Amino acid sequence: MRWTFVAAFRMSAVLLFLLVGGPVLLVASKPVQETSNGSVPLVLWHGMGDSCCNPLSMGFIKKMIEEEIPGIYVVSLMIGKNVMEDTENGFFMDVNRQVSLVCSTLARDPRLQGGYNAMGFSQGGQFLRAVAQRCPSPPMKTLISVGGQHQGVYGLPRCPGENSTLCDMIRKLLNSGAYSDLVQKHLVQAQYWHDPLNDDLYRKHSLFLADINQERVVNETYKKNLQLLQRFVLVKFLRDSVVDPVDSEWFGFLKTGQAKETETLQESALYKEDRLGLAAMDAAGKLVFLSCDGDHLQFTREWFKEKLLPFLQ
Ligand SMILES: *[C@@H]1O[C@H](CO)[C@@H](O)[C@H](O)[C@H]1NC(C)=O
Ligand SMILES: *[C@@H]1O[C@H](CO)[C@@H](O)[C@H](O)[C@H]1NC(C)=O
Ligand SMILES: *[C@@H]1O[C@H](CO)[C@@H](O)[C@H](O)[C@H]1NC(C)=O
Repeated sequence: MRWTFVAAFRMSAVLLFLLVGGPVLLVASKPVQETSNGSVPLVLWHGMGDSCCNPLSMGFIKKMIEEEIPGIYVVSLMIGKNVMEDTENGFFMDVNRQVSLVCSTLARDPRLQGGYNAMGFSQGGQFLRAVAQRCPSPPMKTLISVGGQHQGVYGLPRCPGENSTLCDMIRKLLNSGAYSDLVQKHLVQAQYWHDPLNDDLYRKHSLFLADINQERVVNETYKKNLQLLQRFVLVKFLRDSVVDPVDSEWFGFLKTGQAKETETLQESALYKEDRLGLAAMDAAGKLVFLSCDGDHLQFTREWFKEKLLPFLQ
């Protein structure tokens, strides 16, 4: 489909600033190494409109991390059989199915069995949190969410890798009935659509987000598993023009019943009642809130090295 190409292309353009000189080489990744050379392996999950292996985004980040941490084993998740499917699945494949596919991929990888760190970009952030909550084996050690939407979105002002036609189509679907079974099943973004004016509908019908955020019942397994993380790092982009509300990147959201005022994670019922174990994690110093002064997923190599790399070393 043409839009997937356009989306991937635009995403690349957005990330171009990351290139600090030097050409981008379309080369195969290094030969498989037996170990991770003493470092903890890393699993990456890309964002909407992107894929595992785009040489200007995930491919670039993978390469950069491999340069900074010699010998590290990095897996950039591909959902589907090829890059095109991977990109399309980021829009149209049931998120719960994506999460369970990833769980089995990780469980089958012999080099991850000692544990791994995880880094999710945009929606990949909340998807990897679901992996932590549902699939404790192999163990995830540190989870870094880069611009993830942990309380969902109530607006998609701009798609990353924007094709306005596609964005308009998604917005129309979301507005026409984000919580209808059909839209829920087939539109990824509907599965983390969080309408504060229709809280009942959200709680009842959101197939993915309401489940992992314990909106219907408290699943003690989720709570226990999430607390197994050594660290949960949340990155918020201060000039984000894609995610609405941007507070969601730090697990905050709009107060229920209106669409203007926001509340922080610490002010939310989720935290106060500690339905997910986040208050306990906060008290134990496991939650790290970082900010980046840029638009969605826009950061420099220097920023990445200074702020995120220490969590991987
Ligand atoms: C966006 O995608 C649609 C559908 O694939 C296509 O018809 C349109 O030309 C694209 N828009 C731009 C600006 O490339
Ligand atoms: C393993 O790590 C050491 C120290 O970080 C580094 O010097 C060496 O090149 C690495 N080995 C491989 C195979 O990357
Ligand atoms: C709680 O989560 C676990 C792990 O995903 C799942 O196996 C179990 O069925 C869930 N329990 C309930 C009551 O939803």
